[in-house]
Amino acid sequence: MLPVFRSRWRCSWLLAISLLVCLLLPLAALAAEHGAGLAGKKAILLVSFGTSVQSAQKVFAKIEAATKARFPGVEVRWAFTSKMIRHKLARQGQVTLSPAQALANLAEDGFDRVAVQSLHIIPGEEFEGLQDTAQRFSGMPKVLKQVTVGQPLLASPPDMRRVAQAMLAQAPAERKPQEALVFMGHGTPHQANALYPAMAAIFKELDANAFLATVEAKPDLASVEKELQQRGIKKAWLIPLMSVAGDHARNDMAGKEADSWASQLGRAGIACQPVLKGMAEYPSVVAVWMDHLQEAWDGLGKD
Ligand code: CO
Repeated sequence: MLPVFRSRWRCSWLLAISLLVCLLLPLAALAAEHGAGLAGKKAILLVSFGTSVQSAQKVFAKIEAATKARFPGVEVRWAFTSKMIRHKLARQGQVTLSPAQALANLAEDGFDRVAVQSLHIIPGEEFEGLQDTAQRFSGMPKVLKQVTVGQPLLASPPDMRRVAQAMLAQAPAERKPQEALVFMGHGTPHQANALYPAMAAIFKELDANAFLATVEAKPDLASVEKELQQRGIKKAWLIPLMSVAGDHARNDMAGKEADSWASQLGRAGIACQPVLKGMAEYPSVVAVWMDHLQEAWDGLGKD
């Protein structure tokens, strides 16, 4: 009686295990597949103010190439923070995304952690808006597990010095020491505008004839013009302190109109030579943004 019972018991036990294995194996395989497809699927989102100048957009391709070289195999996408630029491009038939749209698309495409890199120059209004968007998406249930944001270009005193050195090293070879370098920053009513006079001081310390003025705030061109005249400087190289040589560089700085920087300084007897090259065209400057992206990338969780 007993041996029979035992054998029957063993038999049903084995059957139960086999059934369990049969049931669990496909489930485990499914889970593994699911895990491989989604867990740890990370992406990079590059975010610029944007530009409506088509030729200036080529610069973005260079930043993208630098990003892909530093983070091989990682999905790299773009977003523009300026609604005005996005709408202008849309009218020309070019579809661009806001940071929120790009993050939503990444989530939809199965990415769960995103390192966002700001290609702005200073942590001003545009950067704060981007940070705000990223924070709202970070950890949003069933959307994205995590979103980190890399700092803009001038994020710390060492960054500022590094950028100033890089820009001075890239100054046109034809420029003579007695000729001025006038960097054109954007300028903003935001408190981060304080970085511009700070940058001007660093430029001056590294090169006695290097100046900085902004288009929309202080220091302005009038103050630089006064200094150039006091020093008896007869020639100035105008260089954008902006990521791309877009509308401001082409029109406000180098334009033929009477109120452009070149025209204004020209009337003051200072011959101007504009350099229509954005900061993103200099690998030594792009490297600073890439180091900030590395920090954002390293901050992403592993699972
Ligand atoms: Co502007």
